[in-house]
This record gives sequence, C-alpha cells and structure tokens, in this order.
Amino acid sequence: MGLVIKNGNIVTSNSEYTADVYCDAGVIKAIGKDLEVPAGTTVVDGSGQYVFPGGIDAHTHMELPFMGMVSSDDFFTGTAAGIAGGTTTIIDFIIPNRNQSLIEARDFWMNNAKKAAADYAFHMAVTWFSDQVKKDMEHVYKHDGIQSFKIFMAYRGAIGVDDIELVQVLDVAHSLGALVTSHCEHGDAVVALQNRLAGAGKLEPKWHAQSRPPYLEGEATNRVIQLARVAADGRNGHPAQAKDSQPLYIVHLTCKESMDAVYRARQEGQHVMVETCPQYLLLDDAVYEKPDFEGAAYVMSPPIRPKGHQEYLWNALSNGAIQTVATDHCPFRQADQKVAGKDDFRKIPNGAAGIEDRMSLMYTYGVATGRISLQQFVDVTSTQAAKIFNMYPRKGAIAVGSDADLVLYDPKGSKKISAKTHHQKVDRNIFEGFELKGKVATTVVNGRVQWQDGDLRVERGAGRYIKRT
Ligand code: URP
Ligand code: ZN
Ligand code: ZN
Repeated sequence: MGLVIKNGNIVTSNSEYTADVYCDAGVIKAIGKDLEVPAGTTVVDGSGQYVFPGGIDAHTHMELPFMGMVSSDDFFTGTAAGIAGGTTTIIDFIIPNRNQSLIEARDFWMNNAKKAAADYAFHMAVTWFSDQVKKDMEHVYKHDGIQSFKIFMAYRGAIGVDDIELVQVLDVAHSLGALVTSHCEHGDAVVALQNRLAGAGKLEPKWHAQSRPPYLEGEATNRVIQLARVAADGRNGHPAQAKDSQPLYIVHLTCKESMDAVYRARQEGQHVMVETCPQYLLLDDAVYEKPDFEGAAYVMSPPIRPKGHQEYLWNALSNGAIQTVATDHCPFRQADQKVAGKDDFRKIPNGAAGIEDRMSLMYTYGVATGRISLQQFVDVTSTQAAKIFNMYPRKGAIAVGSDADLVLYDPKGSKKISAKTHHQKVDRNIFEGFELKGKVATTVVNGRVQWQDGDLRVERGAGRYIKRT
C-alpha cells in the first residue's frame, strides 16, 4: 500500500517548495500539488514541516570488534537509533584484522548487517598489504559494490598501516578508480607520546587528548595528500600533476592543521574531500576535565580539540570546504567497557555514539544559528554522501525514482538530549543536556513509516545492502 506526504515543505540540496510526495513499493512515484492517490493510501500530514531526504551517515561502526571489546550497538539497534534521528542509510566499515583475508572479513560483516533496520553500504578497510590483498581489493570493488577503501594511519600495531602499505593501497585504488578514505593521525608518534605520558604517571582520560595533538593529525593529513600523488606519478613515464593524484576523502577531520593541508592541496588542484562530525563542531577539550572518570566517555580518536578549532570547522562547513557531516558512531558503555581503562587511558576503548542526534544537532546548531542554510544542511547530512559514495540519486534526493527515504522535521518541536531517553545502546550521551530546536517527527524508510511522534516501529532485517555501482 502506498504512502503520501501531503503539503510538506520539501527541501533538497538545491530547492525548497511545497508539494505532496507519493511513494509506492519503496520508491517515490510522484511529486506535485494536490496529487490524486489510490484509495487506501496512507496519508501523513506534512503541513508546517520540512521534508528532507533521509539522512546518510557515511561513517559508522556497528558491532565493531575493537580494542578487545565490541561496540555496543549492533546493526539493528544502531540503525534503529539512526531512524529515530532521521538517518535512513549508513555506510559502515569492514575492518579485517592484520593478515585476515578481506573476503573473510566481508562475509563476517555482511552477515552481521543482515539484522539492520535501515539500508547499509560498506567501505573496506585495508589494514595490511599482500598480493592477495590486492586481488581482494579488486574483487570487492568489481563484484561487491564496495568502491571506497579505508586506511588507518593511527592504531599502529593493530589495524594501522605503515607508509609502504599506504602507498600500495593508494596505488591499487588508483588503478581501479576507487576512492580512498583516511583516518589521519601519525600512529607511531602517538604511541611515543602515549608511552611518555604513561611513563610519567599521567594515566587519566584527559591524557588521551594530550597524546594525540592536532599537529599529528595535520602531519598525517598532509602526508596522505602528498602520497596520493605517488599513485599517479610516472604511470605514463611522466611526473604527475597534483590534479591527477588519487582522490581522497579525509574522515572525521577535527582541526585547523588538517583543514589547512586540505586547502593547500586544493589550491594545487588536488581532489580532497572532507568529513567532520558533530562532536568536533560542538564540543571542546574541557570535556576531558570531567571528574570521576566521566572524561572517558569522550575518549575517541582523533580527540575533541581545544577551543578555536570548532569555529574554524564551522567556517569551513559554511563556505563549502567540508563536504559531509557523519558521526563515527562507535559506542562503548562506560560501566563495563570504558572502565577497562580506569587506570590507564591507553586501554579505554576509543569511540562514542552519535547516530541518533546528528540531524537534529546540525539543524539546531547549523541552520537555526544561521551558520548553514537549509540546502547546505541537506547537502552535508545526505546528498553529498550519496554523490561521493555513488548512491545518488537513488539516495540523497527527493525525486521521482529515488528511494522513498524521507524525514519530516518539525521546526516547532524541541527536545533535550539524554542517555535516559535515547535509543542508542550505551549508557552515556556525549551531547547530554544539549537543547534541540525542532525534532524529527516522522522517518520514512523504504516507503514505510518507521518513526512517528516518538513511536519507533523498526523491523529487524528490513534494511537492504546497497551495492554501489
Ligand atoms: O575513536 C574512534 N574514532 N573509534 C572508532 C574507530 C575510528 O578511528 O574511526
Ligand atoms: Zn577513525
Ligand atoms: Zn571511525
């Protein structure tokens, strides 16, 4: 049975108008004023509400095995929380262990993801390199619709790569025409700083941030940018120009030092895209001073930055220099997971939840403050991710033929964020107490109402794998 949203204020990345949207069989079938719809069609009144394309979170880690734990939202609970917050598609990361086959890891993640309530795609992390890894990269790119590879320049000794491996991954991706996404921090230098601090008895959560300073993120961002050029260099017997470099997407960029490296590269003509996350826009490193180990809830990598970086990122977002806002959703419970690092910040599992509040935070602190327009809001929370990761216009658009993934946002609503009321399976919310302007009133996933006025009606396994082409 079909669904019609009547009289909503439709907002896309380049338009705003009032109309009805008729959906059937999971797809948008018609858009227009006073649409005639078949008898029996479910009607949702959109008057006074914005109708946005469903949010796309391009950076999540559901049930990720990491630092001896497993992140506490699985694909069902994490996507359900996303739906409650207006996110209808995620791109998660397959992360093989060092020496594990990419294909084996793919099977593990694909199996876990079958329980998702929302649609999902994957990036493939490359955590080591061999001839077989190269073949596996080619295989997942050509046959599995996994068109973006991820490298971790941090986490040395675990999933992080060295520079030789990094150059090899860039090279294979370049031959394939795939995108490389990168977590930029100088892994070896972080380990050296961690050990120096720990050796001096500095073991509380706040030292996590001190061990990963912005200049080490800036260094790694600049390094991957320069090495991306090697992937093109000498291919035709000629030196490569910057514009021919392997395209990059820098994940969870947090600081001025990294953004400046990106600006320099773009001035040379290099193709570098940037993602940031609400926590890097809205929090500063004072969070690490919280008493009673509460700072551990904010232990993530890169860490929350000192005051000043946030405004720099907001400016980059509003002038279009940052393409996407994702979450890096990777929750660990304070009570029985973060506590592993009670006596040593190096053992606190890195990560926090964010999928549920991303859209409302960006509306409240972006649109309602005048930092970004409604169109930019849609662009950074949905459309750009769809375009960059080859899902557009199936996703990220409100157009006939697009998937019927829609969010009705009530600008008159309000909410206060709290771990007591959120749906994420974690006992802390890093945005605890934040006041929200407006609220996600209804979320439509694949043509079906899955969230309405506080009622979550998600279905385990209803999400589909999005094979990118
Ligand atoms: O602290 C974080 N970010 N944990 C998840 C893994 C990553 O680096 O994205
Ligand atoms: Zn990362
Ligand atoms: Zn991540």
